[in-house]
Amino acid sequence: MVARVIPVDPFDLVVVGATGDLAQRKIFPALCRRLADGQMPPQARIIGAARSDMDASAFRAMVASALTADHLDPPIPAPDRNAFLDQLDYVAVDARSQAGWNDLAARLRPDVTRAFYFSVAPSLFGALAERVSAHDLATPETRIVVEKPLGHDLETARALNTTLARHFSEAQIYRIDHYLGKETVQNLMAVRFANILFEPLWNARFVDHVQITVAETMGVGGRAAYYDQTGAMRDMVQNHLMQLLCLIAMEPPHIFEPDAVRDEKLKVIRALDPVAPGDVVRGQYRAGPAGQSYADEVENPDSGTESYVALKVGISNWRWKGTPFYLRTGKRLAARSSEIAVTFHDPPHSIFGEAAEWRENVLVIRLQPNEGMTLRVMIKEPGPGGMRLKDVALDMSFAKALGDDMHIPDAYERLIMDVIRGNQTLFMRGDEVEAAWAWTDPVIAGWTAQGTAPLPYPAGSDGPEAAARLLQRDGRQWREIR
Ligand code: BG6
Repeated sequence: MVARVIPVDPFDLVVVGATGDLAQRKIFPALCRRLADGQMPPQARIIGAARSDMDASAFRAMVASALTADHLDPPIPAPDRNAFLDQLDYVAVDARSQAGWNDLAARLRPDVTRAFYFSVAPSLFGALAERVSAHDLATPETRIVVEKPLGHDLETARALNTTLARHFSEAQIYRIDHYLGKETVQNLMAVRFANILFEPLWNARFVDHVQITVAETMGVGGRAAYYDQTGAMRDMVQNHLMQLLCLIAMEPPHIFEPDAVRDEKLKVIRALDPVAPGDVVRGQYRAGPAGQSYADEVENPDSGTESYVALKVGISNWRWKGTPFYLRTGKRLAARSSEIAVTFHDPPHSIFGEAAEWRENVLVIRLQPNEGMTLRVMIKEPGPGGMRLKDVALDMSFAKALGDDMHIPDAYERLIMDVIRGNQTLFMRGDEVEAAWAWTDPVIAGWTAQGTAPLPYPAGSDGPEAAARLLQRDGRQWREIR
């Protein structure tokens, strides 16, 4: 099945930090695929900007090799790569000086949509915003794109928002949380709001609890310095898991438009109960079947940074009071698996008597890999000899349902096209980011004050045992990470 493609208008996209990892691994391949699909028009121009002094042909050669990298699945065919390279240009600029900015100004066309993607360390966002406005590069329609970490805590997030607001209106600022660009994450809204089936049951009266799991097998890789300063709470919970929680818990927006959706998400964040720091399970992987220890990987034997977090949070509103949401995420776990599992209550009365073995109905939405949905339902076990019940899975793989050749686009493909289209629905608003920090900060501050070390778990396991106890205390258990 081929997805319908609506081309965007011609544009100039300046990727600042064009030689960096994010640009090379994600941004350019994403744009190349959009061109190949006919969504990015041939009149669009991508201008790489970075400090390195090189000419456009050296830059094209660099991007050419990024477009053949092994991680790209499926690979990008050569004609598509070549067509994309033709649309690339390069200017050397320095965020901290005047160098290059006039040259960049000269290349921008006045009559097309213009966007600046700040694919650089957040410490440069302010300086870049300053340069862009000082050189009059921003028309009222110009968009800027920034990406996490959007602050390190509430105070720094506020400072960042204030800096950006000095030069751009909120409608011009596109804050990426790449989870919102994932097809399956957007699908959460479709499942909830395009079906009558689930919404009547989607509340504390019928939902026993919700589990949100984002498990990774990889370790910190080449990002040791960043990660060791950050930890799983800031790196994953404050943003990606928070966004998933919002999409699962929010009220139906009256319309699928940016502020209507973001208003509802914000209400969820503001209704989250505070969590006591000591109630959150923090873990750090030790050497195990899957590899070396976290401390060895980051080359910091005394590191107190968590690579795993599990917690329980309540939402104090009419819909959810009484239904716990259990969140967990970690690196070097047993499997790569992100899913949301909504477990419903038992029926109020069993007509099959005490002997019937109940299993609750569970709706599992698999975000990655094997994107799909499973609903566990009770049926009669076939055969004579009484009424025995059995739980079976109504299992749907999106790939099978939509056609095996359906390519699930990378989150960045969708998000960058939304920037050009001027649609902020899948981007975080400044107040959302601040509210998420306001909830996260006291937990992290509590850990720092208590000085407790994260609990060890073997690399390749399901995480610390204390995480299992977190649910056992409530008479529940985590789904296996498989
Ligand atoms: C990033 C985090 O935002 O998301 C990484 O900084 C993490 O630590 C990554 O590995 C996970 O993203 P995905 O798309 O692979 O699930």
